[in-house]
Amino acid sequence: MANIAKTLAGRVHNVIQVAAKNPQLAPRFYSAAANLEFIKTEVTGEKKNVAVITLNRPKALNALCNGLMKELSTALDSFEKDKGIAAIVITGSEKAFAAGADIKEMQPNTYSQCIMGNFLNDWTRVARCQKPIIAAVNGYALGGGCELAMMCDIIYAGDKAKFAQPEIALGTIPGAGGTQRLTRVVGKSKAMEICLTGNMINAEEAEKMGLVSKVIPADKLVGEAVKLGEKIGSHSGLIVQLCKEAVNTAYETTLQEGLKFERRTFHATFSTEDRKEGMTAFVEKRPAKFSNL
Ligand code: CAA
Repeated sequence: MANIAKTLAGRVHNVIQVAAKNPQLAPRFYSAAANLEFIKTEVTGEKKNVAVITLNRPKALNALCNGLMKELSTALDSFEKDKGIAAIVITGSEKAFAAGADIKEMQPNTYSQCIMGNFLNDWTRVARCQKPIIAAVNGYALGGGCELAMMCDIIYAGDKAKFAQPEIALGTIPGAGGTQRLTRVVGKSKAMEICLTGNMINAEEAEKMGLVSKVIPADKLVGEAVKLGEKIGSHSGLIVQLCKEAVNTAYETTLQEGLKFERRTFHATFSTEDRKEGMTAFVEKRPAKFSNL
């Protein structure tokens, strides 16, 4: 995997060359590559179209301090804008995906400060990303760490991963989706048990209850997540985005409204070049060449 600074420098160079021939294509800039303290970013995969964001605050088990969440948001801004990126993987270390919100940072907060500062409001960036995001979870995904994973579209877990919503033991409750997203995914009884006890569940249990889609040996986890990103990246980015929106709509609306949204979005694909190309390629027995148009 290439270092992002190098990769991005190469990309900017390529983009400038392409832009010289196609002035309508403006160069892309990557503020996220500079001076990162809490995360690392790389662009990888055979076609260099999968971005990997690694949470990198090992001494605090990747506790999600304000600085880390800001860097994560900035990196997502860059990768979302980058037309060359098809999917994004978020991962941590082998010991911890993330051990939750930074307890030491928030310990002195008052009610007034939480309200006036809209505490955790800026955490929603991951859930608002239009491109597919895969969480590759090794080790602890606790509290905000579990919530961050659930904001992603797909969760792959390493075989030693541990998930929990332990906020109850700190005298508080989950604040970034733990009581809401978890309940929608695993149902009321299991979500209640997890949130009211703070107990950890292992990767196998998480897979059984549908929280994660696959359990993978820890050392192969990120590689498999990147492969998944590459597979998604072999399709039309335009149609992938519409499909992601349709699946997410299932969480926001009634079945009838969701089905209507899906049908209209399906119809809308018939106005795209990529739908025409995909079906024509099938009929002509050749691989499709998508253009995101
Ligand atoms: N915030 C700040 N620091 C944290 C942290 C967190 N969430 N989790 C771990 N750390 C720090 C520890 O304080 C310790 O730092 P020092 O060396 O300076 O003492 C370092 O990381 C290593 O941690 P431990 O020594 O505790 O490591 P361990 O292997 O013995 O235990 C653990 C690991 C079980 C994950 C334990 O650290 C733990 O229980 N962490 C807290 C988990 C938690 O309660 N998370 C929920 C936070 S609240 C939240 O997330 C709210 C929300 O909904 C957004």
